[in-house]
Amino acid sequence: MSEREHKVSRRQFLSYTLTGVGGFMAAGMLMPMVRFALDPALKAGAESNVEYVCELEDVTDKPQRFTWSFNQVDSWYDSTVEREAYIYLDGEDVVALSSICTHLGCTIGYQEDTSRFVCPCHGGQFEEDGTNVPGTPPTRPLDVFEVEIRDGAVYLGQTMRRD
Ligand code: FES
Repeated sequence: MSEREHKVSRRQFLSYTLTGVGGFMAAGMLMPMVRFALDPALKAGAESNVEYVCELEDVTDKPQRFTWSFNQVDSWYDSTVEREAYIYLDGEDVVALSSICTHLGCTIGYQEDTSRFVCPCHGGQFEEDGTNVPGTPPTRPLDVFEVEIRDGAVYLGQTMRRD
């Protein structure tokens, strides 16, 4: 082959250069989007996070309000998260109900005299097991926390929706 056949024309040089720079810029723009789209899937495979809430011996067959807090780092934002749950024993099982009303998200309270949870915002009501009372605004039961019992202590994780 002669040296002349290996020469790159000005047009080819510009074409290669622009393709390379364009590809580099496109990758720079797409990578954060791909990372954002895959993030939930990557986190789903991660170890589940549970937090210590109380001792098992403190839990009775009547719902009691427990609060706990933990540190959470969300990208660059470092914060303290406060949580609460109503925890009770259903036979041998520990049940932890979310205190967030499933109508529009107000905080419910437990009324011992009626054995019901009542929402102060629009009068929503839930039975002791978290089932929504028909005829009141909420259309689904209270969410439940993922429960883990370790060494006689109750640990709670994420809430799960019940329909
Ligand atoms: S937010 Fe609870 S009833 Fe509306």
